[in-house]
Amino acid sequence: MKTSGSISRRLTVLLACVAALLSVLSWSMVTSFARQAAERTQDNILEASASIIAEALRSEDGEVRLELPYSAFSMLGAISEDRVFYHVTQGGATLTGTPAISADFVSPAPGQTRLNTTTYQDEPLRVAAITRVILAGANRVAVTVYVGQTRYGVSLIANDLSRTAALLSIAFFTVAVALSAVVARTSLHQINVIAEAVARRGPTDLRPLRQTPPQELAPLLQSLNRLIDRLSRSLRQSEDFIAEAAHRIRTPLATVRAQAEVALHSVDDVTEKKRMRQIIRAVDESSRSAGQLLDHATVAYRSENIPDTAIDLAQIASTATAALQPTADMKDIDIHLDANTAMVRGDDVLLESALRNVLDNAVKYSPPETSVTVRVRTAGASGEITVSDSGPGLGDEPFEKYTERFQRGKNAEGTVGSGLGLTIARDVVLAHQGRIELTNNEGNGTCVSFILPRA
Ligand SMILES: Nc1ncnc2c1ncn2[C@@H]1O[C@H](COP(=O)(O)OP(=O)(O)O)[C@@H](O)[C@H]1O
Ligand SMILES: [Mg+2]
Repeated sequence: MKTSGSISRRLTVLLACVAALLSVLSWSMVTSFARQAAERTQDNILEASASIIAEALRSEDGEVRLELPYSAFSMLGAISEDRVFYHVTQGGATLTGTPAISADFVSPAPGQTRLNTTTYQDEPLRVAAITRVILAGANRVAVTVYVGQTRYGVSLIANDLSRTAALLSIAFFTVAVALSAVVARTSLHQINVIAEAVARRGPTDLRPLRQTPPQELAPLLQSLNRLIDRLSRSLRQSEDFIAEAAHRIRTPLATVRAQAEVALHSVDDVTEKKRMRQIIRAVDESSRSAGQLLDHATVAYRSENIPDTAIDLAQIASTATAALQPTADMKDIDIHLDANTAMVRGDDVLLESALRNVLDNAVKYSPPETSVTVRVRTAGASGEITVSDSGPGLGDEPFEKYTERFQRGKNAEGTVGSGLGLTIARDVVLAHQGRIELTNNEGNGTCVSFILPRA
């Protein structure tokens, strides 16, 4: 069947896209936070280092002196292989250090610190500056200490954290995609449940679906049930129509037959009599066909709910045999009834109509002055009715064909019939959880058996 793609796959892809977006977003956020944190740490150390150097400034003989404290640099070195520079100015003039690192720097006001990023020897350099006022002799001089450091360490830490964040994001993404697939599949599971429930149904099962659907599927289920309802109603209507039509045909036919019978007895001429007999036979066939149409409609109607009533197959056999006796008498056919009690559960009207149709075949296809045997037995867990005749047999066509609607055998050429008899029998037996068996008798004749579960 042509489909417009898979909802499950679409849902998975959609959720995966969301997960990918979130992963990239969280990765870039973590990366930027990591860089900021590393930079802030460096800034703090640079400021601390500059202020340690500033604290070490002294005035001696009216001049500013500086003995660089080792600790000021050792704390900077702790970060990494970064290079460290310093520059100390007094009133703008270099006291010691590398002047280039403070080239584009506005020195901070006394007591203040300032941070700046410059480029020195083609490398980015972070510089912290602090200004301190020192009393040199009688003068107050502003001394500014600059401490600069390259930023390898910062990049190293930031990159490291970024890589870890990337790995975590990939892991998150993978898990999210897997979960998406599972979620998509489980949320679509309900649809499959309903589809299976529909698929599992037999061809005649038109009961409404009883599943409790999730909210979103309720409209689908409702319209499905409405469709089923419409379908079964229209089926029932056409069955009703057939039954009604058959019934209306049968009643006038009975009148015609009765009249023809009267006429048959009132004429003496042999050819007239023969003609009357032909009329009666044709009327019989027509009313038999109408009867079968009626039976077929009844089967379709009643087999929807087979009652749980106990029935004796022997009783069914005797009723059906009695019904067929007049027809059999016309051909001088003997019907032997050999019935032991066999109880089954079901619908006696249906079972009787099934047996009547099989018996009708036996009588119809057998040559005159033969006999038909109806046997009722129990065998293990089943009750069986067998109808055996000494007619022409079923031939060598596949027997299943005979139970199909309107299918007639080659051996039926020349006999009137509708091809519904065995269909009715099969449908009834199947509705009773049983099976029908067609076999050729050894020698000649046909044997038809209903095998039904015992009550
Ligand atoms: N007792 C029988 N002997 C020989 N052939 C039979 C017998 N019963 C059924 N058949 C074959 O099975 C076919 C289908 O039977 P059925 O459904 O009753 O239709 P119909 O009797 O109207 O032809 C018949 O046309 C005939 O070929
Ligand atoms: Mg028949």
